[in-house]
Amino acid sequence: MGKRGKELARERRQKRLEEISYLRQVPYPQNERWWNSDTVAVVTGSSQGIGYEIAHQLIGHGVHVIITSRDEVKGREILCKLRREGEDGQTVVNVEFHRLDVADESSIMEFAEWVKVEHCGIDILINNAGVNFNFGSENSVEFAEKVILTNYVGTKHMIKAMMPLMKPSIHGARILNVSSRLGRVNGRRNRLGDARLREELTKPNCLSEDLIDTIVNRFVEQVKDGSWSSNQQWPQMFTDYSVSKMAVNLFTRLMAKEVSDRPEGLKIHINCYCPGWVKTSMTNWEGNMEACDGADTGVWIVLGMGLSHPIHNGKFFAERRQISF
Ligand SMILES: NC(=O)c1ccc[n+]([C@@H]2O[C@H](COP(=O)([O-])OP(=O)(O)OC[C@H]3O[C@@H](n4cnc5c(N)ncnc54)[C@H](OP(=O)(O)O)[C@@H]3O)[C@@H](O)[C@H]2O)c1
Repeated sequence: MGKRGKELARERRQKRLEEISYLRQVPYPQNERWWNSDTVAVVTGSSQGIGYEIAHQLIGHGVHVIITSRDEVKGREILCKLRREGEDGQTVVNVEFHRLDVADESSIMEFAEWVKVEHCGIDILINNAGVNFNFGSENSVEFAEKVILTNYVGTKHMIKAMMPLMKPSIHGARILNVSSRLGRVNGRRNRLGDARLREELTKPNCLSEDLIDTIVNRFVEQVKDGSWSSNQQWPQMFTDYSVSKMAVNLFTRLMAKEVSDRPEGLKIHINCYCPGWVKTSMTNWEGNMEACDGADTGVWIVLGMGLSHPIHNGKFFAERRQISF
């Protein structure tokens, strides 16, 4: 892209961000609100950044939100902060906290058991928890296993543990995975080198959990034996993070297909989205938008679908628009 092209792209992005900031102020009309104060949402990794903002916005719309963090003390501090934010000095009551480490299966199991006992189930699951250890032009894979474990395996385990707890509803339960454009299978500059594999991954009938795990495990093995960078097989930017988010995107599509034939009343709609380049601790506070703008599309997907708006399943979104995988 030439200099003028880049400028135009920047202008278009800025205009879209302004539109979204405006749209966020427009309240959902009463007749489009499929949810009420009994609607329960879980947001993983909601102690800071985009997860915190998603939780904050859902609370503002009247959803009962369970915020989570690996750190009990930090989580309870955030809970107090959210509770103090009611209008006219009123305490916000539609929020609670429970500890959750998505990289630890026993923590997920304990969390699921608590949800079952306390709430009998949930309506919305937002898999936001994630890690990335590279900034700028760095591309270290020192923490590749942790990145894959948290971003992909953690998301997968959360979906499997919470799926039986998704409440039956005529509106359908909703799962949203916070992903990244860096994980696009057919990204222009950052993608798998093997064209045949890329093609296979775009065909719904070829996709399986085994195939996704095989690709991810191959990457981890190559990181361990040091051969990962000697071929052009892997995305070139933030490689471990990109592989983890590609797996999240693929798993979203796979699960969406698996649940697509559920009968009315037991439907689950599973989608993913890219929040954009957001100023959070993950980016060392670099980016072109604030966390509240990055959270917007996530909230719009889980609340905006239904009644007079189309229902989506197995789709990828950014800036309130569907984008390609
Ligand atoms: N910022 C961006 O530009 C950008 C772009 C695309 C996608 N994303 C995605 O957006 C999501 C949120 O990122 P962010 O930018 O808001 O980053 P962040 O501020 O670093 O927040 C990450 C959150 O993940 C939680 N977390 C990390 N490991 C966890 C684990 N094992 N179990 C449970 N929670 C864990 C952290 O919570 P605790 O430390 O409290 O446990 C923290 O709240 C991530 O999935 C990220 O990949 C971000």
